[in-house]
Amino acid sequence: MKVYRTIEEIRFEIGKLKSAGKKVGFVPTMGALHEGHISLIRKAHEHSDAVVVSIFVNPEQFGPNEDYETYPRELDEDLEKIKEQGVSLVFTPDRTELYDSEKYLKIVINSLNDHMCGASRPGFFEGVLLVVNKLFNIVQPDVALFGQKDIQQFQIISRMVEEFNQNVEMVMVPISRANDGLALSSRNAYLSEQERKIAPGLYRSLTYIEKQVRGGVDTPALMISHQKSELEAKGFKIDYLNMFSLKTLQPVETLAKGEQYILAGAVWLGKTRLIDNILIEL
Ligand code: PAF
Repeated sequence: MKVYRTIEEIRFEIGKLKSAGKKVGFVPTMGALHEGHISLIRKAHEHSDAVVVSIFVNPEQFGPNEDYETYPRELDEDLEKIKEQGVSLVFTPDRTELYDSEKYLKIVINSLNDHMCGASRPGFFEGVLLVVNKLFNIVQPDVALFGQKDIQQFQIISRMVEEFNQNVEMVMVPISRANDGLALSSRNAYLSEQERKIAPGLYRSLTYIEKQVRGGVDTPALMISHQKSELEAKGFKIDYLNMFSLKTLQPVETLAKGEQYILAGAVWLGKTRLIDNILIEL
């Protein structure tokens, strides 16, 4: 496994893979790798001949009061974990390798970031698109893999690929969960022992709502507000919990047969923000 910090080197190495006719699979990450990331790498092997992983904590997707400085950075451990997965190349650029001090351009997102994490994290998805666009231009992957946990991210990047005619196949990989249902996340490391015990409550609420919706409840607002109160009583602070259209990412009041929805929630437990979702096709 080769690890490169510069755009020039990684481009050169990927060029060699491509001239050898290899299909390149790409897993972009911010490091602090857990089983969820490993499942992306495994899936990447199924879709490609050579897997490239990037590790870069992207400053552009953190708000001024968010955890950029304290975000877990575990490069040595990450490289060990990736090595076991038969990855060909790892790209670990420095901040200055990807960003100049001057920025004249930005990507603007219409409506797809009005709700869910877009509403509570202004500028977040613009920052994600900026870095993913750069990484796609550098790595030129045939296929890129992202987790379902960040489903709004997946949908917005997929839209970028479509609208900007990028030649990348997008693959969404299901959420990896701990035994008690908690969606795996690098930020779970922030949870205290007590918070970790409560944390699976979010997934429990989602599965409860899912069951009712699949059972025929087509106006879930009251039930959702009930679940919010229950979560609050357990110590969660609710950011959002709702049904959204998979395509438009707008909240939906009345559900219809044949449509695809995201049942999604974001909550705070102390200083930790947790997100989770379930895809529902009626
Ligand atoms: O999902 C993530 O880890 C990040 O948002 C990504 C896609 C690597 C961009 O920084």
